[in-house]
Amino acid sequence: VTSETLDLKNHIRGIPDFPKPGILFYDISTLLRHGPAWKAAMSRLAALIAPHKPDLLAGIESRGFLVAAPLALELGLGFIMLRKPRKLPGLTIGLNYALEYGTDRIEMQADAVQKGQRVVILDDLLATGGTMAAGISLLRQAGAEVPCAAALIELSFLNGRSRIDTHFESLAAYDE
Ligand code: PRP
Ligand code: MG
Repeated sequence: VTSETLDLKNHIRGIPDFPKPGILFYDISTLLRHGPAWKAAMSRLAALIAPHKPDLLAGIESRGFLVAAPLALELGLGFIMLRKPRKLPGLTIGLNYALEYGTDRIEMQADAVQKGQRVVILDDLLATGGTMAAGISLLRQAGAEVPCAAALIELSFLNGRSRIDTHFESLAAYDE
């Protein structure tokens, strides 16, 4: 298997009934653990993102950081953190968003982007799309343009893509 033919799905496992009964959890730990597969995943994402000419990348805490940091190095870009509440020092801006039950919030430093900068946002997984959509809105509130969003995994059956109002890329889509 070469890095071109390597099937990433062979390195992502589905773990039933986690974190709750009836949920099939797609676990990237096995992908992270496998050097060549992880490298192939990052190279493929880099190739999908580069045409959007980002000035900066943004990663969503916490698993999104695992994607954004190596991609930033690969593309020679900086990256910024979209974090859970009250984690970032200095002046921050934030956005509350709805979950299936309750709400969540993400924050970023108010001076993290300059007006008109092109920021590509990254996460490990797109499920309902609520987290990614909130990240995009927050970046725009900060003055960024968001030409593209990307994730390693997309749960197609949840149709999160319909909530992403910019170009969206994923490397592995699951129908169930
Ligand atoms: C998971 C995943 C995405 C988000 C996707 O994060 O890493 O960030 O949920 O769900 P959505 O598309 O329905 O919004 P989680 O909150 O489990 O936290 P973690 O990344 O810190 O593990
Ligand atoms: Mg997450």
